[in-house]
Amino acid sequence: MARFEAVAVCTPGLEAICRDEVEALGNRVGNVGPGLVEFKATTRQLYASVVWLRTASRVMVRMATFRATDFEHLVARAEEIDWAQWLGPGVAAEFRVTAHKSRLIHTAAIAERLERLVGAPLERPEQPRQAFVVRADRDLFTVSADASGEALHHRSWRTDHVAAPIRPTMAAAMLSAAGWDGTEPLLDPFCGSGTVAIEAALVARNLPPDPGRLGGEEGMMPGYALARWPGFESGTWASVAGSARAGAAPASPVTIEAADREGSAILAATANAERAGVAGDIMLETRVVSHLTGRSDAGLVATNPPYGKRLATGDLVPLYKRFGAVLRERRPDWRLTLVTPDRRLARAADRRLVPTHRFGHGGLTVELFSRPGGAIPDLEGPRRPTAAHPDASSTSAPEAT
Ligand SMILES: C[S@@+](CC[C@H](N)C(=O)[O-])C[C@H]1O[C@@H](n2cnc3c(N)ncnc32)[C@H](O)[C@@H]1O
Repeated sequence: MARFEAVAVCTPGLEAICRDEVEALGNRVGNVGPGLVEFKATTRQLYASVVWLRTASRVMVRMATFRATDFEHLVARAEEIDWAQWLGPGVAAEFRVTAHKSRLIHTAAIAERLERLVGAPLERPEQPRQAFVVRADRDLFTVSADASGEALHHRSWRTDHVAAPIRPTMAAAMLSAAGWDGTEPLLDPFCGSGTVAIEAALVARNLPPDPGRLGGEEGMMPGYALARWPGFESGTWASVAGSARAGAAPASPVTIEAADREGSAILAATANAERAGVAGDIMLETRVVSHLTGRSDAGLVATNPPYGKRLATGDLVPLYKRFGAVLRERRPDWRLTLVTPDRRLARAADRRLVPTHRFGHGGLTVELFSRPGGAIPDLEGPRRPTAAHPDASSTSAPEAT
């Protein structure tokens, strides 16, 4: 049985969440380093990993590790690799090289030597490519084959955008960190293009994060690089994809609500949800957060409120305060998790929010905050009138991420 030395690549800061996901798939987890989780996988586990990992950006397979201090050594060791195992006919090799504190430091020159050796140049722009990731660290080279192809955070359903969408892998991490498993209601009152709600609906339906990449229907190839490897086991893939389809619930067992003040965002979210196959699972509404309706049950509010480099924190404080007050009033028993780069904003929404994870996003360092459920007192004290109504402020366009 083939065993792969695999690596799940994730946003630095999300390793612990990604690690748990890798392990939950039955893989044997090894080292966990900045932005990566190493694991050993059978063929089936590797296929299941590209399909099911919600927080990984890529899955790669280690091909070789060796020491090289000059080009002669590099080429000699690279010649020992069985490249044909990873490169099917008509597939072009693409080398992505990084070098750190190594004698061979010129990444373009390293890539050029390897391209010459492997001899599978890109001849047509539409030609399929196989990426090889080469990392030199203190003269130690690791060469890996990318199993994912298109980055896993590029969900094929998310083609309609708004300003500042959250990465789907971050949305998945937010749900996972909050322990949301699709058995309690969910609300995103600042839903934009619907990323959080759609990721949630996919979890609730027990569907993979990108069902459109499973392939198989009408002869479509799976949308992952490993499907072009010469040793690709189509029977194993059919079994992994078949179980994913067979295990899906016909509908979300819980209510998922998503709202945004912009009608254009709701149109984008609807189109994305339709492509993901979960439009029927999400109640989408154009609505400002102040008009949030009450509910007597408990659930999770998971959201990515407006933030951005162009807006001073002070501009957004009234909106976050209002948001927090509305939740305390109308959803008193709901838990809350949110992503924002600014602790002052998080505190303005709810002083009990604590940062649990920190990661880079769209050029900013953002944090994931959460607080447990249960009725909580209004910690803001007596409310003073604010100059402008928060819903009326033009705070919806943070920097694109
Ligand atoms: C950071 S974006 C959310 C992006 C979303 N997570 C996605 O992936 O597309 C914040 C959203 O909040 C919305 N928004 C701003 N003020 C609002 C308010 N008062 N009520 C409801 N939505 C509001 C904006 O229109 C914007 O779509």
